[in-house]
Amino acid sequence: MFARSVVAAFVAAPLLAQVAFAASCARQYTVKEGDWCDTISAANNASTYQLAVVNSAIDNVCDNLQVGQTLCLGTEGEDCQTTHVVQPNDSCDLVTGTYNINATLLHTNNPQVDADCTNLYIGEVLCVANTVAVPAVASGSATPAIIIPATATPVSTTASPVQTSTSAAATETVSADDDEDLPFCDEL
Ligand SMILES: *[C@@H]1O[C@H](CO)[C@@H](O)[C@H](O)[C@H]1NC(C)=O
Ligand SMILES: *[C@@H]1O[C@H](CO)[C@@H](O)[C@H](O)[C@H]1NC(C)=O
Ligand SMILES: *[C@@H]1O[C@H](CO)[C@@H](O)[C@H](O)[C@H]1NC(C)=O
Repeated sequence: MFARSVVAAFVAAPLLAQVAFAASCARQYTVKEGDWCDTISAANNASTYQLAVVNSAIDNVCDNLQVGQTLCLGTEGEDCQTTHVVQPNDSCDLVTGTYNINATLLHTNNPQVDADCTNLYIGEVLCVANTVAVPAVASGSATPAIIIPATATPVSTTASPVQTSTSAAATETVSADDDEDLPFCDEL
């Protein structure tokens, strides 16, 4: 009898952990064949950054989704559902003007977008809410969704070229300048 209740206690712990996750997750999504992070984001009004920050199990290049896997699209109280899918020739000015928000808010809700807005790519999903709506980057962590997918197309020919070697070199320079620890850079 004693041994049996010990086993029951071991089983109960992971179940409780799951319930805690479900309570804070506002919306869930089940991965289907052919899904890709940005298509899930676009279809469900969950920004590129939000999907990445909420689902830390998804890797930098979104190539480890499993059919049937449950993703959280947004957490309670920090679930931005006002989104914009980046189009050819979009710019941050165009986006902020269209949705009547300021650049500070655009960058707070989309921390993967660089200060000069040179790294937008077609199909990226931005949170364009008029309040701060997404979870912050955890302190000491790399910004989720900051890695541009290798297949991404920049919004215009004047935007930074999307090349792994170029972005790795650029990131290394930044890293050397401010001593930030960005372990993923070495893996590119
Ligand atoms: C996404 O937002 C658009 C615009 O507000 C809305 O028309 C659409 O129904 C929303 N889709 C989902 C899945 O919430
Ligand atoms: C984007 O801008 C370029 C250069 O101004 C123009 O040739 C092209 O037609 C534009 N594309 C779209 C989809 O507006
Ligand atoms: C940007 O907009 C937000 C929300 O309206 C506001 O709280 C903030 O003060 C604005 N920031 C600037 C720099 O205008």
